[in-house]
Formats: sequence, structure tokens, C-alpha cells
Amino acid sequence: MRIIVAKDYDDMSRKAANIMAAQIINKPDCVLGLATGSTPIGLYKNLIKGYEDGDLDFSAVKTVNLDEYRGLPKENDQSYYYFMHDNLFDHVNIDPANTHLPDGTEPDSAKACSEYEKTIASVGGQDIQLLGLGHDGHIGFNEPCDEFVQETQCVDLTEMTIEANKRFFASADDVPKQAYTMGIGTIMKAKKILVVVSGADKADIVKASFCGPVTPQVPASILQFHPDVTVVLDEAAAAKIK
Ligand code: GLP
Repeated sequence: MRIIVAKDYDDMSRKAANIMAAQIINKPDCVLGLATGSTPIGLYKNLIKGYEDGDLDFSAVKTVNLDEYRGLPKENDQSYYYFMHDNLFDHVNIDPANTHLPDGTEPDSAKACSEYEKTIASVGGQDIQLLGLGHDGHIGFNEPCDEFVQETQCVDLTEMTIEANKRFFASADDVPKQAYTMGIGTIMKAKKILVVVSGADKADIVKASFCGPVTPQVPASILQFHPDVTVVLDEAAAAKIK
């Protein structure tokens, strides 16, 4: 595991975007595993700039996203489908047919999850998987639990996650209570993993995830066992690690 400490959010975003950009340049038809949340927004802005400057070509790139709220239609501005179009896809020359997210509108959760595993397999798996980090150590929407779940699953969001994500909704009651997320095994199969974390409020969970014991109670801790992980932190998020 490589840990890079960047000065601040902008520096973190640029450094992490450079790693994604290198992947796209080295393998123009690569599969990017993408993430939502507020942390990767700056990274996506840098990728858009790379495209506008003529350095990045997304025409053959394929993407698979980590997760999607269960029950939110694509047009809902809080769906992760909407987020990805708003923050990246609509601003680069990616073919929308090459972009994939779990289908939040599929009510049959077993079907939604197995279809998504098939989709990920059909594109060949992630060359690089981008991850943010939840305050409880969740990656994607894999919440703390008693065992690492392998494949795409339907999860009940914890109170902490609903509380953290309510800032995007009119109220906590409007936050969906469930989501479809890649499983820990689906994430761990990515060839490379890139984690971005920013802010003093994540310093404790950064320490627990990357310096503490590996346990499903801190889902991100499993990343310590992946052979090719780069974690890009800003100084505030890195404050509690040596
Ligand atoms: C959500 C997403 C995660 C993300 C996390 C942290 O729960 N499902 O993929 O990593 O939020 O978000 P933020 O970057 O806004 O702190």
C-alpha cells in the first residue's frame, strides 16, 4: 500500500487524477471503476480538464460504478447515475453505452445484483477502482458487518451513512434506506485501487482503515491485503497516521 500525503483537497485531487490519467493514457480501452461522494469531484474536474486540453481521450474507456441507491430513478438528481453524468460523463467524449451503474430502479434486488456482476465481468473487470471512504470505514456502500461480502449486494444503510448523506437531500427521511453496491470481493478483484480521502473528520477512520487490524467492522481495512493500492490523503485526513 502506497500512501501519498497531499497538501490540501486540490493537491489531493490533482495527484489522484494524474494516476487515473496515466491509466487512460497507458490503456485507452481501460475499465475504470468509479465512485461518487463529494471527495472525487475535484479528481473528476481534473480529468475533464485533461480531456479539454487534449491530453485524455475517453472514446474507448469503459466504466463501472461502485454503487447506486435502491429505488431512485436515473432522472433524480441524487441518483448516482445523475451524479456521474453531471460530474464527468457529460463533459468528456465517453460513449454513454460504455458507462455502467447498478440499476437502482430494479425492484428485484437479487436480479439487480447478479445482473451487475455479469456486467462487470462482461467488460473484463476494473483496471483501476477509485474509492472514497465513509466515516464508518465503508467502501462503496459496504457497511461495517460481521463478514466481508463477496459480490454485489443490496445493503441497508447505517444511521451514520444516512446522516452523512442527508446533506444532499431535503431531509434525512428522503435519503434512500437501501443501496446496491459492489461487494468487497468485486472491489478486491480490481487490478489497481486508488483511494481518495480528505478532511480532519476522516483522520480517525483513515488510521483505523490503513493502520489498524483487518476486520469487516472496518470494511476498508481489507484493502491492506490488496497488492496494488494507492491512498491519496490530504494533510488533514493524514493527521493521525505516522
Ligand atoms: C457514499 C458513497 C461512498 C463514498 C462515501 C463518502 O456513502 N457510497 O462511495 O465513498 O459516501 O463520501 P464523501 O466523499 O462525500 O465523504
